[in-house]
Parts: sequence; structure tokens; C-alpha cells
Amino acid sequence: MTKEEAKKRIEKLRNELREANYKYYVLAQPDMSDYEFDKKLEELQKLEQAFPEFYDPNSPTQRVGGEPTTEFKTVKHKYPMLSLEKSYNIQDLKDWINRISKLVDEKFTFCVELKYDGVSLSNQYIDKKLVQSLTRGDGIYGDDVTANARTIRTLPLILRGDDVPHEVFVRGEVMISRENFERINKEQEEAGLPTYMNARNLAAGTLKLLDPKIVAQRNLDFIAYFMLGEQLPVDNQCDALKKLEEWGFFVPHDYIKAKNLDQIMDFILDWGVKRFDFPYDTDGIVVKVNEFDIQKKLGYTAKSPRWAMAYKFPAERKLTKLLGVDFQVGRTGKVTPVANLAPVKLAGTIVKRATLHNEDNMKKLDLHEGDYVYVEKAGEVIPQVVGVDKSKRKPGAKPIQFIDHCPVCNTPLVKQGADYFCVNTTTCEPQIKAQIEHFVSRKAMDIEGLGPETIDLLFKEGLIHNVADLYQLKVDDLKDLERLGEKSAQNIIKSIQKSKNQSFDRVLYGLGIRHVGATAAKILAHHFKNIDNLMQASVDEITKIKGIGPKIAESIKNYFSNPQNQALINKLKQAGLKFSEDEESQAVDNKLENKKFVVSGSFKHFSRDALKESIEKHGGKVVSSVSKNTDYLLAGEKPGPSKVSKAQSLNIPIISEDDYLKMIS
Ligand code: IVH
Repeated sequence: MTKEEAKKRIEKLRNELREANYKYYVLAQPDMSDYEFDKKLEELQKLEQAFPEFYDPNSPTQRVGGEPTTEFKTVKHKYPMLSLEKSYNIQDLKDWINRISKLVDEKFTFCVELKYDGVSLSNQYIDKKLVQSLTRGDGIYGDDVTANARTIRTLPLILRGDDVPHEVFVRGEVMISRENFERINKEQEEAGLPTYMNARNLAAGTLKLLDPKIVAQRNLDFIAYFMLGEQLPVDNQCDALKKLEEWGFFVPHDYIKAKNLDQIMDFILDWGVKRFDFPYDTDGIVVKVNEFDIQKKLGYTAKSPRWAMAYKFPAERKLTKLLGVDFQVGRTGKVTPVANLAPVKLAGTIVKRATLHNEDNMKKLDLHEGDYVYVEKAGEVIPQVVGVDKSKRKPGAKPIQFIDHCPVCNTPLVKQGADYFCVNTTTCEPQIKAQIEHFVSRKAMDIEGLGPETIDLLFKEGLIHNVADLYQLKVDDLKDLERLGEKSAQNIIKSIQKSKNQSFDRVLYGLGIRHVGATAAKILAHHFKNIDNLMQASVDEITKIKGIGPKIAESIKNYFSNPQNQALINKLKQAGLKFSEDEESQAVDNKLENKKFVVSGSFKHFSRDALKESIEKHGGKVVSSVSKNTDYLLAGEKPGPSKVSKAQSLNIPIISEDDYLKMIS
């Protein structure tokens, strides 16, 4: 195939795939079979590999996610990303309409939309092509998450239509559908990993992941609601929404043009109920003055446009009977009161339990046995008891008190701040189980196959009493247990053995010392080099370390002064876990002092993480994109063509893996 032929074929495939993508994801009217799509995509991938000169960041092949990055660039928004003024009742809306009606003489209408509860994103298109996607940030500066945004199938990479201005910014909300959210949480649960609070948090976290390939698997969506630019082809918001859809964006059709407050109220009443069947979370509606010329006259305050107002749906609230109160003991021994309720449907799910937070909150509610209580969902997810209907209380009903001993191990509780703790961290069952769950989790020892249910089982069978017992387990102990079997037993044991190679900072984090998160563990491991130094350090000494506060220092001292914890550490040491920092993870020399590297492609001698580690150990730094401040582009096999051309244009030396090895030898 000649270059010219390849170029034509690549263009044809890209157009066909783009069109199919639009029909499938935006219109939900697929007209190409999955098989045909995959075949075409494969052909395109092969051609792009054979002819790298036709690389295009907006090719449909790029939807799977490009190279991982180490940080996000901060970029100034050309137009600040403001927020919306919020109202919580109809009177507020009425006052707003009266207020703005006095500011302009002309008649105007409203465009009334749903308020999507996601993460806002601003996308810049130049000559129809997506060039940059920024998060809101502080409204003035946002994070450049373009590589992640490119994986969102409902975000067009190239716009359709002949009336797209030279430059246009399209803003909207990055969302995770409820269905997708539930799927991801189920997968997390099955893998024994923590679940996510709500779809918005998950979407926000996903957008900030450093590896676009993982982002691509999360199936984010983008809902467009706002266009900004100098020469827009429309003059009102409702037409803008229609236009955005024509250009290839996903715009739900659930918006109306309204003439007055009555019509707005109808929309609110309608959607107050319908929203629970909508595939995405919504937390209200947004009323916008429809006509752009009137919007312009009304202008902006420092924080928000005068021409728009959000109305937040009231949290759904139900009355139900209190069946009793449980006291749950968490990993750190914190005791949380939880109400057991007669099942009630709330914001789309059946609720049977709701948090009561702490003693102060219980006192404020003044709960009595058999009370009828109001429940609400905080942030649409965690149900909580918010009040009591005292008129329904039976005479003589007994008040419900907070407990003073641990409900599991009967140790007297100790109050710290607003919370009570069971201080028996070494034999109180729920604490130990949660500690083990934490110890095996991905950020700690990363042991696979040990979800909460399996841990529970091992505990019940008396096979483990603490994390050190994991290292004594044998395949024979596990293979006959319920739901396990030879194969999974072998895998679990293999994974436990493998975890002995985890670095000191992960072991330290895995111990679950209160307030010592993954970052603090890294700082401590690096500072003290081994556990003995850390155990001997005084609170003062620990507090002096940058990034470590007195709360952490106290907690560390407290942890190591407990003889049972000391014994546990000895056992883990005997099992062969790492309690000192590896030689090679300490700085070796400063041969690359202050040199900034961009790394691209794949390498013979290093994985990408290992290469990053190597550069850092020699005093260098890895940055994500080529700029005039970059010292070297370290290019392996198949480096990113855009990085190569940028380095060439800025005269930045492009070095090979062998050159790098020479530099550090
Ligand atoms: S318009 C100048 N329309 O709500 C502000 N925003 O609480 C233009 N949001 O920052 C925003 N749905 O992230 C607009 N239909 C909608 C929206 C919407 C959700 C978000 C947006 C904004 C936040 C304010």
C-alpha cells in the first residue's frame, strides 16, 4: 500500500468509526455491528502502526487511552468557570425572576434543564478538533485532563456540521450512569475493595486518574449544556442545546422552553419524581434566561451569572419505624450508632439502616424505643436519621442511650472528640477483621482473593487471629473451606507469599496505625529507613518531619507502645516482611540532579515504573509533557509521535535507553 493509499484508507476508516460511535453512544441508534466495528478498528490500528506519520490524537483508536502521566498541568481558563446561584424553594425562584425582570425592558423566556450531579468539564475545540479539556479547578485555573477526556465515548473528538466556529468551548458534566456505578461497585466488592460513595465522587476520582487506560474502562459519559465563544451560530440556550446535539454531543432531551414561573414549577414537580428513573444522578434543575442578548445585559456577579438560577430538589424524606439501634465497631475501634428501620423506599432504593453518626447527634434527636423517625439520603447515598415524630411516641417509651462498653468485647469505651472508641485493638473481632481487610487491600499488601467474606470465614474457622497468621496459612488449611477449592486456595497462598516483597512503606501503611495513610507511610519509611528507628523516635522527632503532624506522631507512639503490637511486628518480621527500605529505593547518587525527563514508548530493561524510580533515585524528575523546561525526551520503542515532534521543535535532546544507561553508569 502506498503512503497516499494508506492516508485515504485511514481517513475513511476514521470517519466510518466516528459515525458509528456517534450513532451508538450519542443517538443510541447503532447501525454497525460490534463485529464490523471491531474489525474496522483493528484495521485502522494496524495502518496507524505501519504509518505513524498519520498519528492523530483524535483518531477513534485513541479512545482506549494513551500513555500514563505523572501529573496534570494547571491551565488558566480562557473564560472563568463560574458556579450557579442556588435556591431551595419556589419563593426564591419567584424573587429571582422579579429581580431580573426589573433589570431589562424586553420580554424574555427561559430554558429549563436538569441539574446533572457530576463533575464539570470545559472542552476547547479549534477547527472542530478537541484540543484541551480542563476541570473546573478553582474556576480560574483548571487541571488539564485531556488524555482522560479523550476516552469518554460521548465526548466528540471531532465535531460534526458546517457551522462550528473556529474556536468554541463546550462545557458540561462528566457523569457515571447509575447502572455503571452499581456495576463498578459490585466489582469492587467482589474484589474485596472499598466501594465508592456515589457516582459523582467516582467520576471525579476517575477523571483524576493518571492512567487513561483505566479511565477508558470506567465508561464515563459527558453531558453537554453550555457553549461559549465569539461567533456562535445560535442566539438562545434551547437552540444551543439542539446545536450541541447536531455537533455530536450527548444532550438529554429533557429540557423545556418556559414562558413563566408556572411552567417552571410544572417541570420541577414532574422531575421531582421522574428523576429517580433517569439513568444519571440529578440534584435539581437549572433555569436559564433563554435569549443570549438578554443574558448579556444581565451579566455576571463575581461568582455566577445573573441570568441563571439553580433550584435544588429537597432531599427525599420518609417517616418509618425505628426497630432498634446497633453499635458498629470500625477498624480503628470507633463506635458508630446505626438505626435499624422498618424498610422504606427512599430516592430509588429500599432503606433498612441509617447512620446516627455519634452520641451528640443521638442526644439531639432524643430517640426513644419504638419511635417513628424521618430518614433522608445525604448526597443521595448514605441514609441518615434526621428527626423524630414525637407525636407518635408511646407513653412510657424508654430513651435509647449510647453504650459505655464495647458491644463485642465489652472493653470500656474511651471518648476522643465527639466519638467513642473501643481501645482493644488487638483482640476485638470486628476491628481485627477490618484491620486484615485493610492489610490485604490494594494500596497495602495487595493480596488477592481475600474479600471480607473469606476473611470472615478464616476467622470463624479459627485459622487467623491477626495479620501475621496469614503467613502461616497453607493450601491444605483453605482448600476444603466453603466456596474455596484447590485452585483458589493455591492462588490465595501464592498471593500471600508474593506480598512479602511489598516495600516497607506499604507494610507500614498496612499495619493500619490510626491517621497513617499511604502518603504518611511513604514519608515515614523514607525518613526512618527501618521500623526500629521509627519505634525508637520520640513524638517530637516525628512531628518535625515535613508532612507529619502531632496527631500522627502521637498515634504512632501509642501504637508502638502496645506490647501486643510489638509482638505482632516481631511475628511479621519472622515471616519475612520488609521492615526496612530497600537499598535501591534510596537515592543512589545525584547524577541527574534537577534534570527533567519525559519518558515515552516501551523499554528493554525497565518497566515504566522502574524507569521512573531509577530517574528519581539518581536525583532526576519525570514530567508528563514536553515543554521548554524539559531536559530530555527518553524515547523507547514506539514513542508518542506528538512528544517526538514537540521535542524536535523545541530542540530538546531525544535520548535512547542505552544513552540513559550510559548517563547513570
Ligand atoms: S450551566 C455559568 N447547566 O452545576 C454556569 N450547569 O452548581 C454555567 N450543572 O458548575 C453552568 N447541570 O457544573 C449548567 N444543566 C446545567 C447543569 C449545570 C449541572 C453544574 C455545573 C455548575 C454547577 C453549579
